[in-house]
Amino acid sequence: MSKAKSPDTRIVHTGSDPKSYKGVVNPPVYRASTVLFPTVQAMKDAEKNKFDTTFYGVHGMPTQFALEEAMADLEGGYRAVSVSSGLAAITTALITFLQTGDHLLMVDTTYGPTRNFCNTALKRFGVETTYYDPMIGAGIAELIKPETKVIFTESPGSDTFEIQDLPAIAEVAHQHDIKVILDNTWSAGYYFKPFEYGVDISVQATTKYQAGHADLVLGHIIAKTEKDWRKIKVNVATIGQAVSPDVCYLGLRGLRTLSVRLEQHQESALTLARWLDERPEVDTILHPAFPSCPGHDIWQRDFTGSSGLFSVVLNDYSESQVTAMLDGMDYFAMGYSWGGFESLIVPSDPATIRSATKWKAAGPMLRLHAGQEDVDDLIADLERGFDRLNGRA
Ligand SMILES: Cc1ncc(COP(=O)(O)O)c(C=O)c1O
Repeated sequence: MSKAKSPDTRIVHTGSDPKSYKGVVNPPVYRASTVLFPTVQAMKDAEKNKFDTTFYGVHGMPTQFALEEAMADLEGGYRAVSVSSGLAAITTALITFLQTGDHLLMVDTTYGPTRNFCNTALKRFGVETTYYDPMIGAGIAELIKPETKVIFTESPGSDTFEIQDLPAIAEVAHQHDIKVILDNTWSAGYYFKPFEYGVDISVQATTKYQAGHADLVLGHIIAKTEKDWRKIKVNVATIGQAVSPDVCYLGLRGLRTLSVRLEQHQESALTLARWLDERPEVDTILHPAFPSCPGHDIWQRDFTGSSGLFSVVLNDYSESQVTAMLDGMDYFAMGYSWGGFESLIVPSDPATIRSATKWKAAGPMLRLHAGQEDVDDLIADLERGFDRLNGRA
């Protein structure tokens, strides 16, 4: 664990232990299922201590442990657990704290596959889900039932970027002994420190900004307390969640440059959003750093920055006009996921998925991810795209 106060210094040094690896800077990739023991006693000791030592591949090796240490440090939590994807981090956290007969409060703006998990697997196992308005704040109290065990939050919300009042929600939750879980992927754990705002469990799709290169799928669950961490770790071992050391190696390599990459994503996204805000084709900017985004004041209060992902609502254009725009982009590519070096643009329609809130907008919505390209090239790409949108090209 690094002793440095500055988060940027900690990101470089935490989870690094060259002395244990003959001076090698990065923890090596330990590929293992079998771990050998010299005696029966050594084997028994290792089993008792299987979450903290090398015992069997499924529980992790030094490569996984190094990344977990760095992820816990980044978020300011007690410890982290590596799982196979961001979605696995979400579903594993949920099933750790829920059982048959329980009630879950799920934010209406959650990542689509999280919603799908609630409506299918959790429902099948007898867990009831109620979706709530992301702007509910302390009003969440009215939705709590005796069976409510988890409030799941995602801030900002997927695609529409509402910032939730987590301290207000957590205060109510803790009065009822309810766990607060946060999908903290957008801030990368860098621009928002969840445990200082009442969150109990933070999950991240490490796939995005930590990986940073669109070449791996990985997730982390970070707990504030030892008790919750152990509960998650036991559950992960019970269901056999495991993640390869090769992927963790790449995740840790990406994490070392997180702060400089994020700074660039932030700057480019803000420049693009400011430019888009002046365009006649655009109705609304949904970016937490803009007053037009619901919860902007909470973002100003609780976050230290913004990352590269945001949306714009266009004026009333048809599907075929939007298709003409998107089909001809030179640098903004179409594809899911985000957080990599490349810029992305995708159409999105929240009206088809939300149930607790009604999505009303002037026209179609586009979600953009600002990558590491020169922002002037990205602006020129959007300008040519708007020409196609308007039938001028
Ligand atoms: C907010 C959010 N959480 C979780 C995930 C899931 O991550 P993964 O693709 O690693 O399963 C995504 C993926 O797009 C996401 O946008």
